[in-house]
Amino acid sequence: MVKAKTTFVCQSCGQESTRWIGKCPGCQSWNTFVEETSVARPKENTVRGLVANTDEPVLLKDIAPGREERYKTGMAEFDRVLGGGLVAGSVTLIAGDPGIGKSTIALQAACLLSTQGLKVLYVSGEESTAQTKMRADRILNKTANSLFIVNQIDVNIIVEFINKLEPDVVVVDSIQVVYQSGLESSPGSVSQVRESASLLTQMAKSRGMAMFLIGHVTKDGAIAGPRVLEHIVDTVLYFEGERYSAYRVLRAVKNRFGSTNELGVFEMTSSGLAEVSNPSEIFLSERAKQSSGSVVVPILEGTRPFLVEVQGLVARSAFGMVRHKAQGFDANRLALLVAVLEKRVGIRLEDQDIFLNVVGGVRVEDPAADLGVALAVASSFLDKPVPSDIAILGEVGLSSEVRSVAHIVTRLNEAEKLGFKRCIMPKNNIKPRSDIKLKTLELIPVADVRAALDYIRK
Ligand code: TYD
Ligand code: MG
Repeated sequence: MVKAKTTFVCQSCGQESTRWIGKCPGCQSWNTFVEETSVARPKENTVRGLVANTDEPVLLKDIAPGREERYKTGMAEFDRVLGGGLVAGSVTLIAGDPGIGKSTIALQAACLLSTQGLKVLYVSGEESTAQTKMRADRILNKTANSLFIVNQIDVNIIVEFINKLEPDVVVVDSIQVVYQSGLESSPGSVSQVRESASLLTQMAKSRGMAMFLIGHVTKDGAIAGPRVLEHIVDTVLYFEGERYSAYRVLRAVKNRFGSTNELGVFEMTSSGLAEVSNPSEIFLSERAKQSSGSVVVPILEGTRPFLVEVQGLVARSAFGMVRHKAQGFDANRLALLVAVLEKRVGIRLEDQDIFLNVVGGVRVEDPAADLGVALAVASSFLDKPVPSDIAILGEVGLSSEVRSVAHIVTRLNEAEKLGFKRCIMPKNNIKPRSDIKLKTLELIPVADVRAALDYIRK
């Protein structure tokens, strides 16, 4: 028999509790628990629903290697983030703030896949079919003739459509409006979202079709967030961007079929999302030449190199307490680099306010940016500009040594491609390797921060 049970569920991460609690022990957010009545299904049924088959254990060496079928959307940025195309039978969650462009990118991918002859079903729960058509007309110049659109939110009916149509790819926009009529809790609640998503996921797996689920990120916890779904799906992509900028970044945070930290850059235009194949150009486009405190660092996000501008500003403190502020860079790391400059290089910064900014809203976690940050601070303090044709690379250790960085060739190539003439880089990166082949970029190997600074002061 079906019996109802009352539980309290965190709307942010899905943690359950038998009583109401103020602070979620799972995700540490406050006031996110709400009461939910979920229908507990008979145990036997649940087990059978989740375990798809009853295979006996077999020896790993005896298993024939499966072939991974991948569909390419043709949007190189999108395919790369997916790990080289969309895997048949996989479920991908595209999460992001409302209005960021999730429906746009999903529809764009759907259109492109259908122009290759794949049968695509786009389930829109938020917009009418006419609205979706208008959007498709804006973003596509070719006709997509195997793309089906339906406006539906009942998951059982969606499953029926899928059974009838047998599509290769399904998009569900969004998972938060989809509901299962058998469940008592309201659409958008954790149990609804979780049940609907796992039902659709099983469907995708058993039919071998690729599925996109779209999920809104909400801070106030009114609707169950995508974190509830992260463990159900194969791939989680976050679509991010500054509200007032046209640039959008698609980031893989979980990927069973590729590398995470892979990143795709798009620009929102009047005809949909355009790929930005060379983001470094944007990040460097407004750079003031010959200004002290500005340096360029080739960082790596996933496998992709980026050149970003790092700005330092050092000013005499007006108060007794000095301020150290960092935007887009770890404040503790900045403090460490400042200490290295003071103690090992002899730059007296103790009565100075220090501000650091990574341009373009980028967050740099790559240790290869250390030397760039140290030189940005030193350059501002000494009021000595770093020549604009120099890129800077290197991790800095506590005794001010410049340590080697990973993927040096990729980084140097990117710097050369963007027209840099010189690169200050770790000495240790040069010694054992012979695969650094560059045409115009001059390498300036340094062993410590002082050597790098001496080069710039010269
Ligand atoms: P949308 O994909 O609806 O966002 P989400 O599904 O994440 O809520 O699109 C968001 C914004 O993008 C919307 O404000 C309008 C804008 N937009 C364009 O600028 N150009 C376009 O071609 C399209 C389709 C949308
Ligand atoms: Mg939408």
